[in-house]
Amino acid sequence: KIKILAISGSLRQKSSNTALMKATIGLASENITFTVYDGLGNLPHFNPDLDVEEGPASVRELREQLKQADGVLICTPEYGNGVPGALKNALDWLVSSGEFVNKPTAVISASPSPMGGNLAHASLLLTLQMINAEIVENGKVIIPHITLKLNQEGIITNAETRQELEALLQGLEQACRGQV
Ligand code: FNR
Repeated sequence: KIKILAISGSLRQKSSNTALMKATIGLASENITFTVYDGLGNLPHFNPDLDVEEGPASVRELREQLKQADGVLICTPEYGNGVPGALKNALDWLVSSGEFVNKPTAVISASPSPMGGNLAHASLLLTLQMINAEIVENGKVIIPHITLKLNQEGIITNAETRQELEALLQGLEQACRGQV
């Protein structure tokens, strides 16, 4: 089975991105198992002075979970036209350690706005490119008007969105199998 680490960029209890991430996981084939990373809010602010020897335990845990994963799924909101600080902070911890190198990765941004968090999406891709993540085929999905596409029960009610997410999952699975 393929192992995917799923990371939501939102710390909010009722996050639409976390709900969307879970709905996406629900669409996946049974060949994939997901681990939802829940440590984003517990990481210290990135500081190279702390990134020595073993580093902080929470950072070790993040790096270990990434190492164990065949691929990564990120689902993020946009704050202030950019990547949420908590998510960027996690990525900053991963620049030096290299777990993302050649790691098949898919990136979703979702927003109630008509732009879908496109600026956070683009910025996140730049960071992932810098750390040599492999962005998979169909692995870049921007979802505007998320509140109209995901209902209160966390079910995707929009057919086009569902198709986009299914294609993303296929891209992720294929890349993890080394077929692409
Ligand atoms: C936002 N939101 C937002 N949306 C967007 O598309 N671009 C942006 O720059 C911002 N900036 C922003 C700043 C602040 C302070 C807040 C509180 C919100 C709206 C944001 O997309 C919305 O709150 C989402 O619901 C957040 O995602 P989750 O938590 O639902 O996953």
